[in-house]
Amino acid sequence: MTPRTIPNASDAPRWLQTLQYTLNPLEYMDQAAARCGDLFNAPVIGKHAQVLFVSHPKAIQTIFSRDTQEFIAPPNQLLQPIVGDYSVFGLAGQRHRRERKLLMPPFHRDHIGHYGELIVDLTNNVLEPLTPGDSFIARGLVQEISIEVILRVVFGLHAGQRFDQLKALLMEFSDRIQNPLFISALFIPALQKNWGKVTPWGYLKTLQQQISQLLHAEIQDRRQQRAHSQDILSLLMAAQDEDGQPMSAEELHDELLTLLLAGHEATTNAIAWALYWVHRTPRVLEKLKFELETEGNGLTPMALTQLPYLTAVCNEVLRISSIAFLSFPREVATPITLMDFNLQPGTRVYACIYLTHHRPDLYPEPDEFRPERFLERKYSMSEFLPFGGGMRRCIGDVLAQFEIKLILAQILSQYDLSLASPTPEHPKRRGVNVAPASGVKMILQGTIK
Ligand code: HEM
Repeated sequence: MTPRTIPNASDAPRWLQTLQYTLNPLEYMDQAAARCGDLFNAPVIGKHAQVLFVSHPKAIQTIFSRDTQEFIAPPNQLLQPIVGDYSVFGLAGQRHRRERKLLMPPFHRDHIGHYGELIVDLTNNVLEPLTPGDSFIARGLVQEISIEVILRVVFGLHAGQRFDQLKALLMEFSDRIQNPLFISALFIPALQKNWGKVTPWGYLKTLQQQISQLLHAEIQDRRQQRAHSQDILSLLMAAQDEDGQPMSAEELHDELLTLLLAGHEATTNAIAWALYWVHRTPRVLEKLKFELETEGNGLTPMALTQLPYLTAVCNEVLRISSIAFLSFPREVATPITLMDFNLQPGTRVYACIYLTHHRPDLYPEPDEFRPERFLERKYSMSEFLPFGGGMRRCIGDVLAQFEIKLILAQILSQYDLSLASPTPEHPKRRGVNVAPASGVKMILQGTIK
């Protein structure tokens, strides 16, 4: 068969497409898919001549299953200025594989289960001060919980002044990255200029330095203490490479920053979306509350998060609101034919999570929030891919799903909430995620005895 020509997402010049994609990525991708279908060239990230967005499950399966062969998983340059050169995001090949091996054990299901009670307690702590009639922004409230969780997973249970300072700085850092000027700077490296605190990039760099000082101080204290615990920092400090060398302070710092940022932002957005969708769909809310009342009592947190309808709700949230709408990049290493398109070495390829999750052939009426679809059918890992796949599949997927389900279950079992406005919530870019534009304003109606 003659190879097909790769269609262009748009006829607009590259700079204009980059701007459109930066400001409204979902609209840009929807328009491109309507024009081109399953695969198109979207030259909106980096300087590569061809940047392909792919949304056909078969093609995605090929990319993820061969990302050490015809494809490689290159460093994620977009995130490097934020998390540093030694972050797992910025590593490739053998070093990347080694780093993942090091990072993954603490994120294993058996380990994550230990955080169940902590998550429940933190959820109660942030909701308890509210009284009936109070309104609040769900995203802000949930962020308090998820930042504390990740700080404890990464550093262990070492609450104190440094912990509080880090928490405040991380919250501020996360809020700043929704500024469109900062987001533009992420995609247009020429704008990454530190012109002091008054500019978005300069302000972010100042915050980053303050966070770094605290991280380095913690690393130094731990080195002196030589304490052995199960948190990620301890495990990383104990790890050695093939030559018996431990990680340097710089390497430890970049990895901690990566986990702290990656570990709360997307999860926060997912829980805010979950609260929105279940309260927007009373039928689902009722069914979920019924499951929690009749089958959730007395279960351990881990067992609770295995309940079928709660799991279906969580999956449907991650599908319809596709928080991370794109995978990290893969690069063609040797020529390969993908869906009748010939791809040449150097071509950048992204699995388009958002477009795949909105394919009507996989998810009929894709804009409808209907968790039942996940009970009626089993989706493959290239059809449902909120956490990506292959060599760079998210290492926090178990923690994220555990948190989403547990916090949602805890809130719904204890509190009666409602949405403050009947207006539909719109997705808005926050860094490399999409979050509910208003943060989801809610009202506490009462508590459940
Ligand atoms: C709802 C929450 C989350 C979503 C939707 C999400 C999504 C993703 C996606 C799509 C990728 C890229 C995968 C690929 O290219 O194949 C990724 C990578 C990653 N995620 Fe997550 N993530 C979430 C939560 C977390 C948490 C809680 C952590 C833990 C600390 C985390 C740590 C990471 C790391 C370290 C990588 C890079 C892996 C690598 O480069 O090898 N994420 N995530």
